[in-house]
Amino acid sequence: MSGFASSLITRRSALAGAASLIGATSALAQQAQPLQAPNPDWLYVPTPDDVVDKMLELANVTKDDIVIDLGSGDGRIPIAAAKRFGCRARGVDINPVRIEEANANLKGSGVENLVTFVEGDVFLVPIADATVVTLYLFPHVLLKLRDRLKAELKPGTRIVSHEFMMGDWEPKVTEQVRNARVHLWTL
Ligand SMILES: C[S@@+](CC[C@H](N)C(=O)[O-])C[C@H]1O[C@@H](n2cnc3c(N)ncnc32)[C@H](O)[C@@H]1O
Repeated sequence: MSGFASSLITRRSALAGAASLIGATSALAQQAQPLQAPNPDWLYVPTPDDVVDKMLELANVTKDDIVIDLGSGDGRIPIAAAKRFGCRARGVDINPVRIEEANANLKGSGVENLVTFVEGDVFLVPIADATVVTLYLFPHVLLKLRDRLKAELKPGTRIVSHEFMMGDWEPKVTEQVRNARVHLWTL
């Protein structure tokens, strides 16, 4: 089970009481960066590099794509997409600390001309130009987001999610990388 998946289970039990919430925070802190966000939906757990590779591979990214990572953390997915495929890529994160980290990671990466990071809410930022959308967000957030994805993204846009499903949307492909799953949908 991935760190985020186990943190989700911890988070579910955390909702049962404040004492568990303290436990969830310390358990997550052992697996990932310390929790710096006031909203529990903003938990940050980075996707391991081999899982990033699988996400980009399943989405069949090419240099002509525009990849958007919704909830981009330290920016590793947009930076990896641009480095590996020479495509344009964008990351969106609501937490300014994550945007600062992403911009620091972008500096000197060699793909500064291809990648941008935007501080904003995944429910509000423009996404219509994306041809590939990558996600590693809680299932209830994905469920809320999917209507927007369907309404605003072009037909043929690929959506890849690390670990979590989009409600009852049946993925076209699911692949396993060690203990993580990657799902692909094509609109
Ligand atoms: C589990 S981390 C994934 C980070 C990165 N995508 C990766 O896979 O390494 C989720 C990220 O989504 C961001 N996030 C959560 N809800 C968001 C929202 N409504 N709008 C923008 N970012 C959000 C969090 O701040 C966090 O950095």
